[in-house]
Amino acid sequence: MITDRQLKQMWFDFFSSKGFKKIAGYSILPENDASVLFTIAGMHPLVPYLLGEKHPAGNKIFDVQRCLRTNDIDEVGDESHFTCFEMLGCWTLGECDKKQMIKLSYEFLTSPKYLNIDKNKLAVTVFAGDENAPRDEEAASAWKECGVQKIFYLPKQHNWWALGSGVGPCGSDSEMFIDTGKPPCGKDCSPACDCGKYLEIWNDVFMQYNVKSQGEKPVLLEKPNIDTGMGLERTLAVINGVKSAYEIGCLKKAMDYVKAECANFELKSARIIVDHIRAATFVLGDEKGVVPSNLGQGYILRRLIRRAINHARKIGFDCQNFAVLADMFIAEYGIDYPDIKQNAQKVKIELDKEIQKFSKAIDEGHREFEKVISGIEKHKLFAREGEKVENIISGKAAFRLYDTFGFPLELTKELAAERGYSVDEEGFNQKFKEHQEKSRSISAGSFKGGLAGDGEILQKYHTATHLLLAGLRKLNPQVTQKGSNITEERMRFDFNFDHKLTAEELEFLQNFVNDAISKNLPVVCEEMSLDEAKRSGALGSFENKYGDKVKVYSIGELSKEICGGPHAKTTGQLGTFKIVKEESSSAGIRRIKAILQ
Ligand code: ALA
Repeated sequence: MITDRQLKQMWFDFFSSKGFKKIAGYSILPENDASVLFTIAGMHPLVPYLLGEKHPAGNKIFDVQRCLRTNDIDEVGDESHFTCFEMLGCWTLGECDKKQMIKLSYEFLTSPKYLNIDKNKLAVTVFAGDENAPRDEEAASAWKECGVQKIFYLPKQHNWWALGSGVGPCGSDSEMFIDTGKPPCGKDCSPACDCGKYLEIWNDVFMQYNVKSQGEKPVLLEKPNIDTGMGLERTLAVINGVKSAYEIGCLKKAMDYVKAECANFELKSARIIVDHIRAATFVLGDEKGVVPSNLGQGYILRRLIRRAINHARKIGFDCQNFAVLADMFIAEYGIDYPDIKQNAQKVKIELDKEIQKFSKAIDEGHREFEKVISGIEKHKLFAREGEKVENIISGKAAFRLYDTFGFPLELTKELAAERGYSVDEEGFNQKFKEHQEKSRSISAGSFKGGLAGDGEILQKYHTATHLLLAGLRKLNPQVTQKGSNITEERMRFDFNFDHKLTAEELEFLQNFVNDAISKNLPVVCEEMSLDEAKRSGALGSFENKYGDKVKVYSIGELSKEICGGPHAKTTGQLGTFKIVKEESSSAGIRRIKAILQ
């Protein structure tokens, strides 16, 4: 068995022996990307460098990166889905020597000193070519030279890699698989078909292109790169021939502990607890420090911890033991991410606080449940003639128990059954869906705003941000927001722009915003569907992260943006707008800092 620690060490040893430099993994809370809440891939924090900025450690680097994605949260508990995961990464910046990288990949996979995989068990894929980029014969011939026989040409859907939004550095890739030896599922069986014959372990992305904004065609990067990434959990399972990374190393230790300490073991619940407490340890232990709350990153963190608590209750695992799990994770991951070790106390204190808060809510929920039942019983006593009152807890009541008191539906159903009641599940699901849509748009909106709170001064800065963007778009209609951060002292705004702004341009912007302020324009908020917002010409990115209903804020005729708010009521409240700094944020991205006086 190769453990997680051993695999990391092999990666580090191998790439340092090849002249690459180790860099520290980045924060799990992204610095320069307001479009997502967490770092979602190993290469994500390196985007500025992949777009041409110089990396201080040089142009050949490697690391291990903690990542978090919640899109598959409902799948967690099976063999292969996690919210948090680690990626081993390695990059050549400004250089895209495919042959060299494929040789290195082959050596790491097959050398007895490293993964020691039989070369006949390897299968690889390369890009089949399309209107944007040619068929990748160069990669294919490099694999042939290594002696790999099973080479599949696959289309864009499989062999083109880009970040989820589609925007940013991207390119064709070459993926590496283990052939399990199972018989092919049909005559077209290939690594594309998910039948389980081929299991992916590694991906070399030849980052020769960039997509500048949504829907645009990829253009060649002046300085291409190679981005290679190995998902640690998946690769561990595949190379060890086990079903799941929960059976190996640190995750196994955590699983064994839950199993030993719980009253009624259930594999799925145990995995959810282990995954979510690991994710919570990553987030709470991060140098940037987020704590549970009802907004953005804090909201996701709260959800992860509370979901772990519910599953702990279900299998009779004492939540006080979360601290023991956290200690295991701190000891293990503190090696790679020292901030987790430094914040060890905070991790445990915050976990404990959230457990207390939640258990208080649950106790109140039990009282609320009794009220619901006695309400129905009373209704029966006083029912009009012919009126039939059934022993059914309404979807609305079940949802209130869930939403306000944290009762999972299962718990309500269980308690109801004890009393000879049932629950209107359809009604619950309906309410649940409505709520999900609402909170998705609120949380995406608030985060997009980059708001740290919602005091009056923050609202004013937020409105000033929209005016600044409107002014920038007068200078160049291609400008879009690339990041925003607001504190009580200042606003900071990142945007694409192809040169350092001149003194005249800065003066124009300052006057533009101050003119709008002196006109005392109303700031109007309308709710509409995403489609209507699009049609109305509102700015904002149109990915599904906003949910179906969105808020659109207009400032007179000057600005119209999809945004979570909140904003000042009129521009007259803003005071005087002053730009205090203009600087580069990363390649092609400028940053303005401004204050309101
Ligand atoms: N960025 C590439 C991936 O995540 C390596 O697969």
